[in-house]
Amino acid sequence: MQNAFKDQMLAGKVAFVAGASSGINLGIAQHFARQGAKVVVISRSYEKIIAAAQTMTDEGHSAMGIAADVRDFASVDAAFKQAHDSFGKVDIVISGAAGNFVAPALGMSSNGFKTVVDIDLIGTFNVLRASFQYLNKPGASLISITAPQAVNPMMFQAHVCAAKAGINMLTKCLAMEWGPAGVRVNAISPGPIGDTEGMARLAPTPEMEAAVKARIALRGYGEKRDIADTALFLSTDNARYITGSIIDCDGGSKLGDAGPDALGEFK
Ligand code: NAP
Ligand code: COA
Repeated sequence: MQNAFKDQMLAGKVAFVAGASSGINLGIAQHFARQGAKVVVISRSYEKIIAAAQTMTDEGHSAMGIAADVRDFASVDAAFKQAHDSFGKVDIVISGAAGNFVAPALGMSSNGFKTVVDIDLIGTFNVLRASFQYLNKPGASLISITAPQAVNPMMFQAHVCAAKAGINMLTKCLAMEWGPAGVRVNAISPGPIGDTEGMARLAPTPEMEAAVKARIALRGYGEKRDIADTALFLSTDNARYITGSIIDCDGGSKLGDAGPDALGEFK
């Protein structure tokens, strides 16, 4: 039986990671590079994405940074073409570019709402749609990064809730349409992950952070490594029969408020 945790699990694979200049997606890209994949990363900022790729080439891995805005289909398509021309194929795609700000719906203009839907939902469609002609089929693995807001309505997050809910349904539709080509389409829903821009925006004070952590079943924030390991599993043959799934990696936070102490004297 194959060892699920051997080194270099992605040797010979080419991975394309969108929204990878920082945070969770950069963590996935770096983990994949260390597992032997050649990695292409994209984001809007030329300086940031070149620096992100450099973190991997500095460790001796093959990595390339390309500036591309996921809202612009042509720039995403051009990035895939460059990745394919350079590395010969694309085996794995991560679509994780996102934008977020905390605001009530009445404090949000139509353009503010549209901006987040454009980056998260239309951007994910653009990345997955553009990828198809460059994929190494059968066997390719596509993973979108969604969020708990997709299923749990959240105050001051109407734009993100709507956009991420769309990503969940897009994941399932594309899994059905592209399964016959041997392309698996899944999503990962991270819980609160420490040291990220996302949580810096959602829980900006130590008090808010402590309150969030105290209500998670496994207590505390997850680490970028937790999402990277989930993505790694989904990208290997170990997950060959998994498609159309939204995988929660959240310490149980989606289950609801686990703040009360149920163990008491049984600890
Ligand atoms: P982050 O560091 O801000 O990552 C977002 C990335 O998206 C950045 O690299 C940004 O780079 C890129 N980006 C933004 N707009 C873009 C565009 N139009 N085109 C291309 N790239 C774009 O945030 P994070 O907290 O790690 O979040 C990463 C993902 O995890 C997101 O999908 C988020 O919704 C999800 N998530 C996070 C958490 C959490 O706890 N942090 C929880 C659940 C889900 P540039 O600025 O260079 O473009
Ligand atoms: N409250 C209300 N509206 C806001 C806002 C806030 N805090 N921040 C931005 N907006 C509105 C703007 O006013 C603008 O609407 P308008 O034209 O009607 O005034 C609209 O959103 C677009 O803002 P802009 O700054 O031009 O967008 P951008 O494309 O440059 O940046 C954001 C996109 C706003 C999402 C920006 O926060 C971003 O780049 N985020 C990426 C990083 C991130 O969010 N990481 C966490 C991922 S979970």
